[in-house]
Amino acid sequence: MHPIIAAFHQAGQGQVFAFFDQLSPEGQQRLLAEAAEVDLAEVDRLNRTLVSKSAAAGIDLEGLAPAPYERLPQHGGDVDAWKRAKKAGEDALRAGRVAAFTVAGGQGTRLGYDGPKGTFPVTPLNGKTLFQVFAEKIRAAGTRYGKPIHWFIMTSHQNHAATEAFFHEHERFGLAESHVHFFRQGRMPAVTFEGKIMLETKESLALSPDGHGGSLRALDRSGALDLMAREGIDTLSYFQVDNPLVRCIDPSFIGWHLLSGSEMSSKMIPKAYAAEKVGHFCTQRGKTIVVEYSDLPPALQAEIDPATGKLRYLAGSIAIHVLSREFVRRMAAGGEGVALPFHRADKKIPTVDAAGQAVKPEKPNGIKFEMFVFDALPFASRPLVIEALRADDFSPVKNADGVDSPKTCRDDQMRQFARWLNAHGAGLAVDATGLPAVPLEVSPLFGYDEDSFADAWKRLSPKPKAGPDGLRLG
Ligand code: UTP
Repeated sequence: MHPIIAAFHQAGQGQVFAFFDQLSPEGQQRLLAEAAEVDLAEVDRLNRTLVSKSAAAGIDLEGLAPAPYERLPQHGGDVDAWKRAKKAGEDALRAGRVAAFTVAGGQGTRLGYDGPKGTFPVTPLNGKTLFQVFAEKIRAAGTRYGKPIHWFIMTSHQNHAATEAFFHEHERFGLAESHVHFFRQGRMPAVTFEGKIMLETKESLALSPDGHGGSLRALDRSGALDLMAREGIDTLSYFQVDNPLVRCIDPSFIGWHLLSGSEMSSKMIPKAYAAEKVGHFCTQRGKTIVVEYSDLPPALQAEIDPATGKLRYLAGSIAIHVLSREFVRRMAAGGEGVALPFHRADKKIPTVDAAGQAVKPEKPNGIKFEMFVFDALPFASRPLVIEALRADDFSPVKNADGVDSPKTCRDDQMRQFARWLNAHGAGLAVDATGLPAVPLEVSPLFGYDEDSFADAWKRLSPKPKAGPDGLRLG
């Protein structure tokens, strides 16, 4: 018996090879190659800890408290400390110490878009894609600080080729080939509720991306960390592929991270309402952690801090971090007690029945395992949380309609552009929510944040006026 097949039988996972004898030689090779990717000991551990019903306990609330954070100057933060942070971040950018890092390996099922999510068009007038928006922000920041910025993009097995082809077709939106790096994240097998590894077809396993937390392992395994070390990069600006508002390169955030000697820093925004579906920055036993909205009891989510009159668990996580390169390496290497935990998600997983016929389940029939990047926080020394403005950093495209959809995101982009313009006397009419009466689009190559916009606007003569069709800048 092939040693891989023997190992699966020994681990009680022999069902994976139930149809092996019926497969073509290529099919057999494919299945063996996928099986070789599976860490059977890890699956066994997950079966004991996450799959068995008795292990599915709620989260431990003992000693839980809201995490402290650095307030923005306009909310009472230390003005000089923010100035020092910005200067330190700008110095690091000028020295080429910072890379941008996007996790783009998700499946984007809620949006229901066919193709890598980064290729989804999002801007209000020109329909630029998410990838183009980030590329232009990164390119413009590189120009501003006199040092082109490297961009690392994590893909999945599923979308890797399509992502690379998209960048190739668009000539990387003006970024140098030597500065854009793609690598695939790892995969995990799905298991049944009895802990049996599932097949997707007779000759392939039901494998799916191992979560954005898989980025830490993947950065190391792909050689990205070594490349960074060779290039003198020691700091990564981490963001998700679905949020075009994000300040991909934010000197103040980078500077706060560096000056405080933090290994992993995070941005928070005040939650808009108690039940808003974002994670919460908390502390527990001296560690910073993120507690997901589904794990924090509603009564705690609704608690009011009598001192401020605001939610006690106010600090919402928006998945924007700065990571130190060597911290990522340490997390990837693992070792005694150093590992991101896996989370369980019950899902509808296409599979085959005992006769090998395809099954499209109508209700969850199995479990996927994912790691989350914020679970690295308790391992980081001096983790820091800083406040961000929602209007300047967060409007993700998650759903096809309703909240966090292409429409809400387009409107939020236009509110931001209107704010920038009106801060310089453009006099655009806006409604009570700040939404301009006519459509607007500012190219990141013109201005990608308040400072760069202000500089470009000052140079512009004559100042353009919005017509009935709106206004495009850059
Ligand atoms: P989401 O949690 O929104 O998941 O990912 P998703 O898979 O993209 O979308 P749904 O839930 O299927 O609708 C947040 C970010 O993490 C990345 C995504 O690409 C997105 O940038 N991600 C998620 C990965 O890179 N890998 C993963 O395995 C999961």
